[in-house]
Amino acid sequence: MDHENSKRKIVYIGSDHAGFEAKSHVIDFVNNMGYSVIDKGTFSPESVDYPDFGVAVGKAVANDPDTLGIIICGTGIGISIAANKIKNIRAALCTTPLHAEMARKHNNANILAMGARMTGLEEMDTIIDTWFSTDFEGGRHQKRVDKIHSLTEK
Ligand code: RB5
Repeated sequence: MDHENSKRKIVYIGSDHAGFEAKSHVIDFVNNMGYSVIDKGTFSPESVDYPDFGVAVGKAVANDPDTLGIIICGTGIGISIAANKIKNIRAALCTTPLHAEMARKHNNANILAMGARMTGLEEMDTIIDTWFSTDFEGGRHQKRVDKIHSLTEK
């Protein structure tokens, strides 16, 4: 691993019940890539509320900018909306590797969101692989990211 992300060795992960099975798969996959994964739940397939887990991962990543996050619900929509309520979080819902590439390059997204009812496990692996091997381009994109945060920091 020789990317900027390789310095970020800790990955927080969270899901609701709809993403629970996919989360187990993703934990193994990300561990095998050499990252340490910290699981913020949910810890069973029982029905739960996705905002709780989006916020838990969001807060964990916001508190330690050297980390990244992965969040999974049925569609990836609800959990990413919730995570994006946390200051300094840029959660990007990705359904293709190109989404993941652009979310890192242009948006410096620090949380990857996926939908377990939308995206198969093999495609998730490809998305994750792309996510971790792509760095933020900075430059003009930094100014735009700063503008996003200036909206919530007033
Ligand atoms: C749970 O049924 C479902 O609403 C949730 O996983 C997610 O898709 C919400 O956006």
